[in-house]
Amino acid sequence: MEKMQVKDAQGKLGVLVIGVGGAVATTFIAGTMIARKGLGIPVGSITQLATIRLGKREENRFPKIKDVIPLADLNDIVFGGWDIFEEDAYAAARHAEVLTVEDLDKVKEELQAIKPMKAVFDQNFVKRLHGTWVKEAPTKWDLMEAVRKDIRDFKANNHLDRVVCIWCGSTEVFTKIGDVHQTLPALQKAMKENSNEIAPSMIYAYAALAEGIPYINGAPNLTVDMPAIWDFSAQQQTPICGKDFKTGQTMLKTVISPMLKTRMLGLNGWFSTNILGNRDGEVLDDPGSFKTKEESKLSVIDNILQPDLYPQLYGNVYHKVRINYYPPRKDNKEGWDNIDIFGWLGYPMQLKVDFLCRDSILAAPLCLDLVLFTDLAKRAGFSGIQSWLSFYFKSPMHDNEHIAEHDLFIQYVKLKNTLRQIIGEETIDFID
Ligand SMILES: NC(=O)c1ccc[n+]([C@@H]2O[C@H](COP(=O)([O-])OP(=O)(O)OC[C@H]3O[C@@H](n4cnc5c(N)ncnc54)[C@H](O)[C@@H]3O)[C@@H](O)[C@H]2O)c1
Repeated sequence: MEKMQVKDAQGKLGVLVIGVGGAVATTFIAGTMIARKGLGIPVGSITQLATIRLGKREENRFPKIKDVIPLADLNDIVFGGWDIFEEDAYAAARHAEVLTVEDLDKVKEELQAIKPMKAVFDQNFVKRLHGTWVKEAPTKWDLMEAVRKDIRDFKANNHLDRVVCIWCGSTEVFTKIGDVHQTLPALQKAMKENSNEIAPSMIYAYAALAEGIPYINGAPNLTVDMPAIWDFSAQQQTPICGKDFKTGQTMLKTVISPMLKTRMLGLNGWFSTNILGNRDGEVLDDPGSFKTKEESKLSVIDNILQPDLYPQLYGNVYHKVRINYYPPRKDNKEGWDNIDIFGWLGYPMQLKVDFLCRDSILAAPLCLDLVLFTDLAKRAGFSGIQSWLSFYFKSPMHDNEHIAEHDLFIQYVKLKNTLRQIIGEETIDFID
């Protein structure tokens, strides 16, 4: 197999985080800084810890991914970003209360140096937040131009070779795909006319792509999941990926569902409920933002279980998802799953899962991997939707001709095989 032409990861990589003062963002940034100083292990990160088998099993070649794939070095990353609050990344991380003060102090000065740029914000899209550090401009098109200028200034001021943009901002209210999202001219016109159908996240994404910068969507927002932006990313030869980091409950769903299907065990119902008390939980307490999250969480089971093929087993599944804002828990979410299954002759059984997790601790390694992999994708000349990164998302993007793959292990094979292809190694689709 021929090796792809991939530009070297030379020079510095800028990482622009939208929602840079949030819990996920600050945990990702501080953790990366701690890891690159050798003061902590980036647990959960495939790019930093995982190996990849090359060749036949008996060849015994299992190098670390980062040793054979031309990824950016953690020491070459420079962070920046936007938020609707002015506080620097250290102050914001203290507020988020995910990492201990002892850990944050290991990289205090570096974190304090990250001062958010003024955000593009519209309260109609995030009802529970009241931004104070916000850009003003006559039209959404002008706001987009201002974000482009921020990106160019950040690149020049930090002497960066490349930049990647990642949304770690709040979940916006549910936005249906409309006419303005279908074509690039329609989208541009809508921005110029200040259409209500243009969310802030779309403005950032358009600006990033206009600058040839990959865009990662960590929330379930519509943002880049529309034909106009698919076209734009192809035109700009720039990768996009999303939506919604697959971290806790949905990750479990995409592992348990394939198990049930593989064994031809039936499913009657799946009730998922969560309590969490961070700012994300507060935002999701608003029905509009919750609806966006709910849609993202619900699609998973049907896609994996294929009720059309197995109506007796999965034709009548009652799937319910609840998120409850409960401040005492802060970022330490508790997710319960009650799964009603049935076996031989239809006899019922139950599975109960109680996942006491830490939301941002699970999300941070995904941010790091996605940043490094989309930068790689850009250097490899990839553009459009990066379906090989579906592994990381609850609601993997796909165009109108494809359907999403949700099974975590199928997604993992796709991810690793893409890496093998990039370096000219044979893909592995079976056990040998
Ligand atoms: N933690 C997880 O496991 C997980 C999993 C999947 C998705 N997510 C998503 O990741 C996002 C971040 O989660 P979090 O827990 O860090 O939330 P958070 O509320 O702590 O952080 C979000 C940040 O975005 C900022 N923000 C909101 N609108 C903005 C805008 N228009 N421009 C710039 N900044 C803006 C907020 O001020 C805040 O600082 C959420 O959308 C969440 O749903 C998180």
